Amino acid sequence: MNIYESDKLLAEYLLFHYGTAEETLPYSFGPHSALHYATRCVSECLDVSRLRGDSRALELGCAVGRSSFELAKHCNSVRGIDYSRAFIAAAKELQQRGELVYRRTDEGDLWTRLTARVPTEIDRSRVRFEVGDAMDLRDHLGAFDVVLMANLIDRLRVPRRGLERLPGLVNPGGQLIISSPYTWLEEFTPREHWLGGCVREGRPFFTLDGLRAALAKDFQLTATRDLPFLIREHARKFQWSVAQASIWIRR
Ligand SMILES: C[S@@+](CC[C@H](N)C(=O)[O-])C[C@H]1O[C@@H](n2cnc3c(N)ncnc32)[C@H](O)[C@@H]1O
Repeated sequence: MNIYESDKLLAEYLLFHYGTAEETLPYSFGPHSALHYATRCVSECLDVSRLRGDSRALELGCAVGRSSFELAKHCNSVRGIDYSRAFIAAAKELQQRGELVYRRTDEGDLWTRLTARVPTEIDRSRVRFEVGDAMDLRDHLGAFDVVLMANLIDRLRVPRRGLERLPGLVNPGGQLIISSPYTWLEEFTPREHWLGGCVREGRPFFTLDGLRAALAKDFQLTATRDLPFLIREHARKFQWSVAQASIWIRR
Protein backbone atom coordinates (compact mmCIF):
# COMPACT_ATOMS: atom_id res chain seq x y z
CA MET A 1 0.00 0.00 0.00
CA ASN A 2 1.30 3.45 -0.96
CA ILE A 3 1.45 5.36 2.35
CA TYR A 4 0.48 8.55 0.51
CA GLU A 5 -2.95 7.04 -0.18
CA SER A 6 -3.70 6.53 3.53
CA ASP A 7 -6.18 8.59 5.58
CA LYS A 8 -3.45 9.12 8.19
CA LEU A 9 -1.01 10.75 5.77
CA LEU A 10 -3.79 12.68 4.04
CA ALA A 11 -4.78 14.30 7.34
CA GLU A 12 -1.11 14.92 8.29
CA TYR A 13 -0.45 16.63 4.95
CA LEU A 14 -3.63 18.74 5.10
CA LEU A 15 -2.43 20.01 8.47
CA PHE A 16 1.17 20.36 7.24
CA HIS A 17 0.07 22.44 4.24
CA TYR A 18 -2.95 24.36 5.55
CA GLY A 19 -2.78 24.26 9.37
CA THR A 20 -2.48 27.54 11.23
CA ALA A 21 0.32 27.97 13.78
CA GLU A 22 -2.20 27.38 16.60
CA GLU A 23 -3.59 24.23 14.98
CA THR A 24 -0.14 22.80 14.29
CA LEU A 25 2.11 23.85 17.16
CA PRO A 26 0.35 25.19 20.25
CA TYR A 27 3.61 25.32 22.26
CA SER A 28 5.35 28.68 22.60
CA PHE A 29 8.70 26.86 23.00
CA GLY A 30 8.34 24.90 19.73
CA PRO A 31 10.23 25.45 16.45
CA HIS A 32 7.89 28.07 14.97
CA SER A 33 10.33 28.95 12.18
CA ALA A 34 9.59 25.50 10.73
CA LEU A 35 5.88 26.23 10.15
CA HIS A 36 4.32 26.95 6.74
CA TYR A 37 6.96 25.07 4.75
CA ALA A 38 4.69 24.65 1.70
CA THR A 39 4.36 28.42 1.37
CA ARG A 40 8.02 29.12 2.19
CA CYS A 41 9.25 26.79 -0.59
CA VAL A 42 7.83 29.48 -2.87
CA SER A 43 8.13 32.70 -0.84
CA GLU A 44 11.79 32.05 0.11
CA CYS A 45 12.97 30.44 -3.14
CA LEU A 46 11.12 31.93 -6.09
CA ASP A 47 12.74 34.95 -7.73
CA VAL A 48 9.61 36.87 -8.72
CA SER A 49 11.67 39.48 -10.60
CA ARG A 50 12.61 36.85 -13.21
CA LEU A 51 9.00 36.04 -14.12
CA ARG A 52 7.28 37.21 -17.30
CA GLY A 53 3.75 38.56 -17.16
CA ASP A 54 2.13 35.33 -18.31
CA SER A 55 4.30 32.74 -16.60
CA ARG A 56 3.51 29.05 -16.16
CA ALA A 57 4.50 26.91 -13.19
CA LEU A 58 4.64 23.19 -12.57
CA GLU A 59 4.83 21.47 -9.21
CA LEU A 60 5.83 17.81 -9.13
CA GLY A 61 4.88 15.87 -6.00
CA CYS A 62 2.42 18.61 -5.03
CA ALA A 63 0.55 16.43 -2.48
CA VAL A 64 -2.50 18.39 -1.25
CA GLY A 65 -1.46 21.48 -3.14
CA ARG A 66 -0.52 24.38 -0.88
CA SER A 67 2.70 25.27 -2.76
CA SER A 68 0.84 25.17 -6.08
CA PHE A 69 -1.64 27.72 -4.73
CA GLU A 70 1.28 29.82 -3.50
CA LEU A 71 2.81 29.71 -7.00
CA ALA A 72 -0.51 31.04 -8.33
CA LYS A 73 0.17 34.33 -6.53
CA HIS A 74 2.92 34.95 -9.09
CA CYS A 75 2.19 32.73 -12.10
CA ASN A 76 -0.82 32.85 -14.41
CA SER A 77 -1.21 29.12 -14.64
CA VAL A 78 -0.01 26.40 -12.31
CA ARG A 79 -0.15 22.65 -12.78
CA GLY A 80 0.24 20.41 -9.73
CA ILE A 81 1.00 16.74 -10.30
CA ASP A 82 1.18 13.97 -7.73
CA TYR A 83 1.15 10.19 -7.80
CA SER A 84 -1.37 9.91 -4.94
CA ARG A 85 -5.02 9.79 -6.02
CA ALA A 86 -6.12 10.61 -2.46
CA PHE A 87 -3.90 13.71 -2.29
CA ILE A 88 -4.96 14.93 -5.73
CA ALA A 89 -8.66 14.39 -4.89
CA ALA A 90 -8.18 16.61 -1.82
CA ALA A 91 -6.23 19.21 -3.83
CA LYS A 92 -8.99 19.30 -6.45
CA GLU A 93 -11.62 19.78 -3.76
CA LEU A 94 -9.60 22.68 -2.34
CA GLN A 95 -9.25 24.14 -5.83
CA GLN A 96 -12.98 23.96 -6.47
CA ARG A 97 -14.41 24.85 -3.05
CA GLY A 98 -11.55 26.67 -1.34
CA GLU A 99 -11.83 24.53 1.78
CA LEU A 100 -11.90 20.95 3.00
CA VAL A 101 -12.86 19.47 6.37
CA TYR A 102 -10.56 16.84 7.86
CA ARG A 103 -9.71 15.15 11.16
CA ARG A 104 -6.49 16.01 12.97
CA THR A 105 -5.29 13.18 15.20
CA ASP A 106 -4.64 14.38 18.75
CA GLU A 107 -4.02 11.27 20.87
CA GLY A 108 -4.86 7.65 20.07
CA ASP A 109 -8.44 7.64 18.78
CA LEU A 110 -9.06 11.27 19.77
CA TRP A 111 -9.24 13.85 17.00
CA THR A 112 -10.33 17.39 16.19
CA ARG A 113 -12.36 18.47 13.17
CA LEU A 114 -10.47 21.16 11.26
CA THR A 115 -10.98 22.98 7.98
CA ALA A 116 -8.14 23.44 5.48
CA ARG A 117 -8.58 26.73 3.65
CA VAL A 118 -6.91 28.24 0.59
CA PRO A 119 -6.24 31.92 1.35
CA THR A 120 -9.00 33.98 -0.25
CA GLU A 121 -6.56 36.32 -2.00
CA ILE A 122 -5.29 33.44 -4.17
CA ASP A 123 -6.94 33.04 -7.58
CA ARG A 124 -7.72 29.31 -7.48
CA SER A 125 -8.83 29.29 -11.11
CA ARG A 126 -5.15 29.54 -12.10
CA VAL A 127 -4.40 26.10 -10.64
CA ARG A 128 -5.07 22.62 -12.03
CA PHE A 129 -4.20 19.32 -10.36
CA GLU A 130 -3.74 15.91 -11.89
CA VAL A 131 -2.49 12.47 -10.97
CA GLY A 132 0.81 11.64 -12.61
CA ASP A 133 4.19 10.02 -12.15
CA ALA A 134 7.16 12.40 -11.97
CA MET A 135 9.35 9.63 -13.44
CA ASP A 136 7.02 9.08 -16.37
CA LEU A 137 5.22 12.33 -17.10
CA ARG A 138 2.67 12.47 -19.88
CA ASP A 139 3.51 14.08 -23.21
CA HIS A 140 2.37 17.59 -24.14
CA LEU A 141 2.77 19.14 -20.70
CA GLY A 142 4.51 22.05 -22.39
CA ALA A 143 7.30 24.17 -20.96
CA PHE A 144 7.29 26.15 -17.73
CA ASP A 145 8.94 29.21 -16.23
CA VAL A 146 9.02 27.61 -12.79
CA VAL A 147 9.28 23.97 -11.76
CA LEU A 148 9.09 23.11 -8.05
CA MET A 149 9.89 19.73 -6.52
CA ALA A 150 9.55 19.83 -2.73
CA ASN A 151 10.40 16.77 -0.67
CA LEU A 152 10.04 14.57 -3.72
CA ILE A 153 13.41 13.39 -4.97
CA ASP A 154 14.11 11.19 -1.93
CA ARG A 155 10.71 9.53 -2.40
CA LEU A 156 11.25 8.51 -6.04
CA ARG A 157 12.28 4.95 -6.89
CA VAL A 158 14.70 6.23 -9.55
CA PRO A 159 15.34 9.93 -8.84
CA ARG A 160 17.55 10.37 -11.93
CA ARG A 161 14.53 9.49 -14.05
CA GLY A 162 12.65 12.36 -12.39
CA LEU A 163 15.50 14.73 -13.24
CA GLU A 164 15.99 13.62 -16.86
CA ARG A 165 12.81 15.25 -18.14
CA LEU A 166 13.52 18.62 -16.47
CA PRO A 167 15.60 20.28 -19.24
CA GLY A 168 12.65 19.86 -21.61
CA LEU A 169 10.18 21.18 -19.04
CA VAL A 170 11.89 24.44 -18.07
CA ASN A 171 12.07 27.40 -20.47
CA PRO A 172 15.51 29.04 -20.96
CA GLY A 173 15.98 31.43 -18.03
CA GLY A 174 13.29 29.55 -16.07
CA GLN A 175 13.64 28.53 -12.45
CA LEU A 176 13.91 25.05 -11.01
CA ILE A 177 13.51 24.72 -7.24
CA ILE A 178 14.39 21.39 -5.65
CA SER A 179 13.90 21.18 -1.91
CA SER A 180 14.54 18.04 0.12
CA PRO A 181 15.88 16.84 3.47
CA TYR A 182 17.62 14.04 1.51
CA THR A 183 16.13 11.34 3.74
CA TRP A 184 17.25 8.37 1.67
CA LEU A 185 15.37 5.19 2.58
CA GLU A 186 15.59 1.89 0.78
CA GLU A 187 11.82 1.39 1.14
CA PHE A 188 11.40 4.23 -1.38
CA THR A 189 14.69 4.33 -3.30
CA PRO A 190 16.95 1.31 -3.81
CA ARG A 191 20.43 2.22 -2.57
CA GLU A 192 21.98 2.04 -6.05
CA HIS A 193 19.68 4.92 -7.12
CA TRP A 194 20.42 7.29 -4.23
CA LEU A 195 21.58 10.62 -5.64
CA GLY A 196 24.01 11.12 -2.74
CA GLY A 197 24.49 10.43 0.94
CA CYS A 198 27.08 7.78 0.13
CA VAL A 199 30.83 7.29 -0.20
CA ARG A 200 32.26 7.51 -3.72
CA GLU A 201 35.90 6.80 -4.44
CA GLY A 202 36.61 7.02 -0.70
CA ARG A 203 35.00 10.45 -0.26
CA PRO A 204 31.61 11.64 0.98
CA PHE A 205 29.28 12.30 -1.93
CA PHE A 206 26.37 14.53 -0.93
CA THR A 207 23.01 14.79 -2.65
CA LEU A 208 23.85 18.30 -3.82
CA ASP A 209 26.88 16.78 -5.60
CA GLY A 210 24.53 14.26 -7.24
CA LEU A 211 22.11 17.00 -8.26
CA ARG A 212 25.01 18.98 -9.76
CA ALA A 213 26.20 15.95 -11.68
CA ALA A 214 22.72 15.37 -13.09
CA LEU A 215 21.73 18.98 -13.79
CA ALA A 216 24.82 21.14 -14.39
CA LYS A 217 24.83 20.67 -18.16
CA ASP A 218 21.41 22.32 -18.49
CA PHE A 219 21.02 24.35 -15.30
CA GLN A 220 23.12 26.80 -13.32
CA LEU A 221 22.92 26.51 -9.54
CA THR A 222 22.30 30.03 -8.22
CA ALA A 223 21.61 29.53 -4.52
CA THR A 224 20.89 27.08 -1.75
CA ARG A 225 18.74 27.68 1.32
CA ASP A 226 18.07 25.80 4.53
CA LEU A 227 14.32 25.38 4.99
CA PRO A 228 13.19 23.89 8.30
CA PHE A 229 9.85 22.14 8.32
CA LEU A 230 7.62 20.52 10.90
CA ILE A 231 5.22 17.63 10.39
CA ARG A 232 2.85 16.99 13.29
CA GLU A 233 1.97 13.33 13.82
CA HIS A 234 -0.14 13.94 16.93
CA ALA A 235 -0.43 16.45 19.76
CA ARG A 236 2.86 15.38 21.31
CA LYS A 237 4.87 14.03 18.40
CA PHE A 238 6.44 16.05 15.62
CA GLN A 239 9.08 15.52 12.93
CA TRP A 240 11.41 18.53 12.69
CA SER A 241 13.58 18.46 9.56
CA VAL A 242 15.75 20.85 7.60
CA ALA A 243 15.38 20.66 3.85
CA GLN A 244 18.01 22.05 1.53
CA ALA A 245 16.49 24.03 -1.30
CA SER A 246 18.65 24.35 -4.40
CA ILE A 247 17.66 26.96 -6.95
CA TRP A 248 18.65 26.45 -10.57
CA ILE A 249 18.27 28.54 -13.72
CA ARG A 250 17.80 26.84 -17.10
CA ARG A 251 20.69 27.76 -19.39
C1 LIG B 1 7.21 13.67 1.23
S1 LIG B 1 5.75 14.07 0.27
C2 LIG B 1 6.02 15.77 -0.11
C3 LIG B 1 4.79 16.48 -0.58
C4 LIG B 1 4.88 17.99 -0.75
N1 LIG B 1 5.67 18.37 -1.91
C5 LIG B 1 5.42 18.63 0.48
O1 LIG B 1 6.55 19.14 0.45
O2 LIG B 1 4.71 18.62 1.50
C6 LIG B 1 6.12 13.25 -1.26
C7 LIG B 1 5.03 13.42 -2.28
O3 LIG B 1 5.48 12.92 -3.53
C8 LIG B 1 4.48 12.14 -4.10
N2 LIG B 1 5.12 11.19 -5.00
C9 LIG B 1 5.82 10.08 -4.68
N3 LIG B 1 6.27 9.47 -5.79
C10 LIG B 1 5.84 10.22 -6.82
C11 LIG B 1 5.97 10.12 -8.23
N4 LIG B 1 6.63 9.11 -8.78
N5 LIG B 1 5.41 11.06 -9.01
C12 LIG B 1 4.72 12.08 -8.45
N6 LIG B 1 4.55 12.23 -7.13
C13 LIG B 1 5.10 11.31 -6.33
C14 LIG B 1 3.73 11.52 -2.93
O4 LIG B 1 2.44 11.09 -3.31
C15 LIG B 1 3.74 12.68 -1.96
O5 LIG B 1 2.66 13.54 -2.18
